[in-house]
Amino acid sequence: MRSRRLAIALLAALPLLLLILTIGGALLLFQGGLEPYRVPRDAGTPIDADTGLLAHGEYVAAIGNCAGCHTVRGGTAFAGGRPFTTPWGTIYSTNLTPDAEAGLGDWSLPEFRHAMRHGVSRDGVLYPAFPYAHFALLDEADIRALFAWLRTLPASDYRPPPNRLEFPAGWRWTQVLWRMLHYRPQNPDFGAEMPAEWRRGRYLVDGLGHCGMCHGRRGAMGSLPASGYLAGGRIADSGWYAPPLDGQQLARYDASELADYLRSGISPHGSAYGPMGEVVYQSLQHLTAEDARAVATFLKSVPPRTPPRPAQGEAAHSFVAGAADLYEKHCAGCHGRDGEGGKDGAWPPLVDAVAVTAPDPVNAVRMILYGGIAPTTPGNPQPYSMPPFVEALDSAQVAALANYIRVRFGGQPPLVTAEMVRARHGIPAH
Ligand code: HEC
Ligand code: HEC
Ligand code: HEC
Repeated sequence: MRSRRLAIALLAALPLLLLILTIGGALLLFQGGLEPYRVPRDAGTPIDADTGLLAHGEYVAAIGNCAGCHTVRGGTAFAGGRPFTTPWGTIYSTNLTPDAEAGLGDWSLPEFRHAMRHGVSRDGVLYPAFPYAHFALLDEADIRALFAWLRTLPASDYRPPPNRLEFPAGWRWTQVLWRMLHYRPQNPDFGAEMPAEWRRGRYLVDGLGHCGMCHGRRGAMGSLPASGYLAGGRIADSGWYAPPLDGQQLARYDASELADYLRSGISPHGSAYGPMGEVVYQSLQHLTAEDARAVATFLKSVPPRTPPRPAQGEAAHSFVAGAADLYEKHCAGCHGRDGEGGKDGAWPPLVDAVAVTAPDPVNAVRMILYGGIAPTTPGNPQPYSMPPFVEALDSAQVAALANYIRVRFGGQPPLVTAEMVRARHGIPAH
């Protein structure tokens, strides 16, 4: 009796099972079939590593910011262990040094190429905290040079902690399902008809520089859908807001100002702070002038990714009483009475600044609470800093100031409340 019921249940489930298998199979085919999941283990041809190749590899590693993600604070460079917070738990970056046990010592070039292009290594399918969706665009010359250069690093036997992920994300094979639903490889031939400088810029932005990791707007389950391409949004890991990167957002820079900003972290229109300060410090300051120019040319050609901001309207005058005085007292000395900035941009303007035009007020609140310092670069060897106001102001004053600058200089509605400042940032009411 029981086995009969079981048989009937199985029979009833069969169409559903077939449907899942068909859809799964179709998605897998759509994604390039099973090839990404077959990791090559052959030795490949040995690389003839001359100094030119190694210097190129070092450059690729800098612009790809391998060290930024593969170094834990205070730890050995490239030995891994930096934690990445995701909604499913913590992922640790791996050891890229040539140690045979803990690092990539016994990896072959084909295996390395495969991990970079497909996000699959001998350990299984990698999590998208590793930007393989971008590195898939890397060309052969860059991959070879990178691999050869990583081989010259001092070997470290440091073993990063094991990932701490919730069930079922801890099983690497669940990433196959995630990829079926959420991963669509980029089109490497996009823009093939464009001039060489533009193509180089696109390669650096969409490929090696993986700008979309932060500047893309994520969809469900941490995906990066085409609709969110460089559209801006909250960065999952750090909670800062990254603006869209397109011609509209960057209209206030001309191409050479933008290229200079990328290398120096400073410009007449704003300076790099938070995670962007780190990216400039660790990576973009090493861009050659030509590559910086190519990135700027490409970014300025990207069509608007978000609707234009409404012109400043009525809201421009609805300030909390006292906000203007607070601004005058604490901020105007550096940022100017009309938000025009000072000292040739060393004190950046607030008019049209990222933190005041962003739909998300988080950057404005964080800057007021904790201040910041632009990255030290050859183009800006003695950066100016902004002091923290977390001790001097209470949460109501921080909210009033954030709203004041965002309404007056950015045309945004006054969204910030004292409760928000307290709840999000743990600031007690004075
Ligand atoms: C945004 C952060 C980030 C950047 C930038 C980054 N990685 Fe990683 N990488 C990771 C994380 C996190 C992992 C671990 C993923 C996992 O365990 O699934 C990883 C894993 C890897 C792996 C797989 C190692 C293994 O043992 O399976 C390789 C190879 C690798 N990275 C190489 C590089 C190289 C080369 C660069 C620079 C061009 C680079 N990564 C830049 C975050 C990053
Ligand atoms: C780790 C996250 C992260 C990565 C990776 C990143 N950015 Fe940013 N970026 C930010 C954040 C956050 C801001 C806003 C803070 C600021 O303006 O400094 C920003 C700001 C910018 C701005 C200023 C925009 C404006 O309107 O003034 C530019 C330009 C920019 N990024 C370009 C790039 C490029 C090009 C890349 C890739 C080579 C890149 N970013 C990679 C986080 C990131
Ligand atoms: C001593 C000079 C100084 C004072 C006083 C100061 N700032 Fe700043 N501010 C700076 C500097 C320098 C930066 C750039 C920091 C960086 O790049 O990390 C900055 C950055 C900012 C930003 C980010 C702008 C952007 O591009 O998105 C905001 C918002 C801001 N300040 C608001 C304020 C407010 C509000 C006050 C008053 C409570 C204030 N600042 C007081 C110097 C100052």
